[in-house]
Amino acid sequence: MEPEQPSPDTEHESLHEEQHLPPPTLWPIGFAIGIVVVLVGLVINPELISSIGAVIAIVFGFLWARDATAELRGQPLVVEPERREMREAGEGMTAPPADQQGVALPPVPETAVTRSRFLEGATLGLGGVIGGLITVPVAGFALLPSFLSQKQHKVDLGPLSTFPLNKWYIATFTVDPMQGEVSRRTAFIRNNGTVTDSKGNASPSFTIISNRCAHLGCPVQANGPTGQKFTGNPSITEHTDNGRVDLESVLPAGYGCPCHGGQYDPEGNRIAGPPVRALDRYAFEVDNGRLILLSTYSVAKVVGTGAQAKIYKYKQAGPGQHVDGPEQWFYPLQPPHH
Ligand code: FES
Repeated sequence: MEPEQPSPDTEHESLHEEQHLPPPTLWPIGFAIGIVVVLVGLVINPELISSIGAVIAIVFGFLWARDATAELRGQPLVVEPERREMREAGEGMTAPPADQQGVALPPVPETAVTRSRFLEGATLGLGGVIGGLITVPVAGFALLPSFLSQKQHKVDLGPLSTFPLNKWYIATFTVDPMQGEVSRRTAFIRNNGTVTDSKGNASPSFTIISNRCAHLGCPVQANGPTGQKFTGNPSITEHTDNGRVDLESVLPAGYGCPCHGGQYDPEGNRIAGPPVRALDRYAFEVDNGRLILLSTYSVAKVVGTGAQAKIYKYKQAGPGQHVDGPEQWFYPLQPPHH
């Protein structure tokens, strides 16, 4: 009994399944990991982690592109070795190569650009240009702000003499004059006089409370009358390096949030509603007799009032974020806040 010969169809399928392709490469995986690191870094630490991710993506992207374009650049494509047995051509079988059966086609010089190679190159090139036109502007808008200077600016609120002792003012000011009104902020300010430390050094004391609600960031408002008619103190407008500074006198019994009813006492401690901590405060310095606002910091609570207040101070945190107690561990990663 003669051994069963494979049918032409079976032979064709088996040859098709055994196509010889370039070996798999790890470069795309490395490139993807780099992109993921860049995106995670944008949330955690844009300058350090995103930079590391960018380096990874660039190195692996370069290696990947070099592999993908090797054939176009005239370098021989590395493929797995041929393992199929060569057979004589027969009826219904795939023909052997032309050079084993006489000249079927004129030989193509190695340096010639064939039509398929030209189309492949044109497709890749055009695809690259279109992809670049789409992704570069989007990536620029997404990534550049992380590397541009967005630090807290100093804010000149005017001379210390503008702020009478133990009087509250609602101050509105622009943080960055270049950005204009979009950077206008509000703070509640009281001049506490001077405070003397344990070494006998006296320094000015101000309570400067941010109006950003510690729940979701809505602007809180003073609970109390405003204006000279009720407070006895005139409202003031100063013009400083930061532009116009408006100071409206107020008698605050506390602060209230219009969004979800959060309530705070005059020192900014939460007393009711959904906020998770006290209101943030501004650090300050006195420069040439002028009150200068610095960056904001977060506060868990304040014990005492005025110059004698003990402030439980923390690094700036986002609205809704606990800064002390066990709840703080639910927020391990936070984007930068200003
Ligand atoms: S944002 Fe202020 S209570 Fe919700």
